[in-house]
Amino acid sequence: MPLSGPSFQIEPQAVYRAMRRDHGPVVPVELPGGFPAWLVIGYRELHQVTSDGELFPRDVGLWNQWEHIPQDWPLLPMVGRPLPSIYFSAGDEHRRHARMVGPALEGADPLEIRRHCEQLADRLIDAVCSTGTADLVADFCEPLPVLVLARLVGFPDDEGASIARVLKDLADGGPGAQEAHLRFGEHMARLVAAKRAAPGDDVTSRMLAFPEEFTDEEYMLDLMAITAAGHLTTADWMSNSLRLMLTEDEFAQSMAGGRRSVAEAMNEVLWEDGPTQILAGRWAARDTRLGGRPIRAGDMLLLGLGAANTDPLIRQSLTGGGSSAQGGNGAHFAFSHGEYRCPFPAQEIAETIARTGIEVLLDRLPDLRLRVPVADLVRRPSAFLRGTTALPVRFTPVRTTGDLP
Ligand code: HEM
Repeated sequence: MPLSGPSFQIEPQAVYRAMRRDHGPVVPVELPGGFPAWLVIGYRELHQVTSDGELFPRDVGLWNQWEHIPQDWPLLPMVGRPLPSIYFSAGDEHRRHARMVGPALEGADPLEIRRHCEQLADRLIDAVCSTGTADLVADFCEPLPVLVLARLVGFPDDEGASIARVLKDLADGGPGAQEAHLRFGEHMARLVAAKRAAPGDDVTSRMLAFPEEFTDEEYMLDLMAITAAGHLTTADWMSNSLRLMLTEDEFAQSMAGGRRSVAEAMNEVLWEDGPTQILAGRWAARDTRLGGRPIRAGDMLLLGLGAANTDPLIRQSLTGGGSSAQGGNGAHFAFSHGEYRCPFPAQEIAETIARTGIEVLLDRLPDLRLRVPVADLVRRPSAFLRGTTALPVRFTPVRTTGDLP
């Protein structure tokens, strides 16, 4: 079955339910252009795939379809090609990069990250707070993570704003995307040179100080991977959480009420409405079977992270049968699992950015409400990423931080 169409945008869980009923936990799907892949939607099967990095590495070089893939295939930027970077390498080579990147991310002080978030969030809110209306996605959720990440890796703020523009052009696809990719690389190459000359307290300087040898290209590609992997996912985590808080009575009533409802909404989103619904992926190192299906060496497996989270077979035992998983149980797949999962310090950075951002927003604009009917809210046009394209809100205008006594 084709892996596109509006039903993925509108109600992916309904699509997953139908897939489960008709095909079971491992579904034969067709990528745009007619290329075959397996979508793993069973919780147990996804656990099996992500836990076994030898049999199912994230090694795009193994793909048995390469000879048929055209240069301009639209999913090529997402699927990637083998590269000396943390995201597009596998096995020992991947472990070498992960050893360097993980501690460099971990070295960021959580209190310092929170301070950056508060400052940058205030600045974004200042730009709209006296008007009484805003689009929370364009004005807040999209720019905040990239501005914070730019500071963490070591950019001065004015360059952070250019990185935000570059990533927007990249995400929009279109004719500007290729040029944006080049600019993205140039920014990172300049950053590596600047930090080599004058190290600071930032991710790039910690990567450079790591004792193993890496080339400048490797540093550059890893910095691109960190920023690209972190910005839209964190933005979508924020926008999906705010959407939930603005639309569900249960949250709306306690919206001004604080931190507990922010944490609950954010946790519920990771289970039910996560930013990465489907991830490409893993490739089988040899012929095997999975969920009763024959998998051939080089077949692509798409990780159905969003689907596995709602697998009824496992949901019962994880949540005690409740319809949502608000108990703080962290066994979801939103950040994937196993040796290629989102690094733990990256997950913590994402959590700090999203939580601080939402807290500052609710603190500054406590009477936020939607400016359009819920039915008019549109999702990102993708089966892979789940985000809200716009969240138009109104609120009582307030003074900017510069005007406060
Ligand atoms: C809500 C926010 C985020 C979500 C949902 C998310 C999700 C993911 C997922 C699903 C993967 C792929 C795992 C796999 O192949 O199994 C991944 C990888 C990665 N993420 Fe995140 N991520 C988030 C935020 C971040 C942030 C803020 C950073 C950087 C500070 C980051 C850095 C990375 C890196 C470097 C990888 C590659 C890891 C590796 O190959 O070892 N992510 N993330």
